[in-house]
Amino acid sequence: MISCEGVHKSYGSFQLLRNITFHIKKGEKVSLIGPGGCGKTTLLKLLLGLVPFEGGHTSILGTDMQNSKRYIQNEIFKKIGVSFQNGGLFDFMTVEENLNFAMIHMTEKNELTRMETIKTLLSAVKLPGTEKLYPHELSGGMKRRVGIARALATDPLVALFDEPTSGLDPVTSTIILEMISNLATQKEGMTLLVATSNVEIAIRFADRIIIVHNGKVIADGPWRSLLIEGSDWVKHFLSVRLIGLDLEYARDLNLPDEFIEKHWNSK
Ligand SMILES: Nc1ncnc2c1ncn2[C@@H]1O[C@H](COP(=O)(O)OP(=O)(O)OP(=O)(O)O)[C@@H](O)[C@H]1O
Ligand SMILES: [Mg+2]
Repeated sequence: MISCEGVHKSYGSFQLLRNITFHIKKGEKVSLIGPGGCGKTTLLKLLLGLVPFEGGHTSILGTDMQNSKRYIQNEIFKKIGVSFQNGGLFDFMTVEENLNFAMIHMTEKNELTRMETIKTLLSAVKLPGTEKLYPHELSGGMKRRVGIARALATDPLVALFDEPTSGLDPVTSTIILEMISNLATQKEGMTLLVATSNVEIAIRFADRIIIVHNGKVIADGPWRSLLIEGSDWVKHFLSVRLIGLDLEYARDLNLPDEFIEKHWNSK
């Protein structure tokens, strides 16, 4: 579904990504993580053909977006749900019109189904009754949730979420997190790639994490194993955010016993 093979990307003389390789199969749920500025957003964008890169090869749904004609890119875009950090809503359209527009252009859904989808998704993101509001009448967190609803309205085969919860208050973050976790379990066939610098978010809905650091993929695998067997840097990066958590909450995350024993029970 998604493949990145030996990708190199520079901005001017600054080489951001070196020899990035990973493959994601149909139905896999994966988190792309790494420190701020490591190139997560750039990676999502280059998979979509939105930023050029120098070396290597990418494909999404079997298509090399960088080297495809516009009409082929558009066909592929119809099958992908994308939510970038700013929500990306059209300011001159209401919430309902934003969602409806996406479905009219990207799906075959009839009007009745479109209206039902809008209702269901707005409830799922805990924004029922906001159909007639314009983006300027929504808070940042609400816009983000509408953006996620819109990304899902088209029943995409692949969903790419960039920092779905950054900058949001804890309550809104939890709503979004739950929604994406539910999605990950319910939509078995949908391939999900979430880019985030937040480890706690990343491990909530994906078993497999890909870690990018200093321009390279430094780890790719199930996070529970990496937490125990990763390199020192990987272990540190993953655990810093987790060891401050409440024990009950840590258990809820299904952290490995060995890890809990080491960081909580020993205290
Ligand atoms: N269009 C651009 N022109 C020049 N430099 C850029 C451009 N876009 C990104 N960069 C640089 O590339 C680096 C990686 O940016 P990117 O947004 O891909 O990282 P990120 O991992 O998504 O970061 P964050 O966690 O803050 O979202 C940053 O140093 C950024 O300044
Ligand atoms: Mg980013």
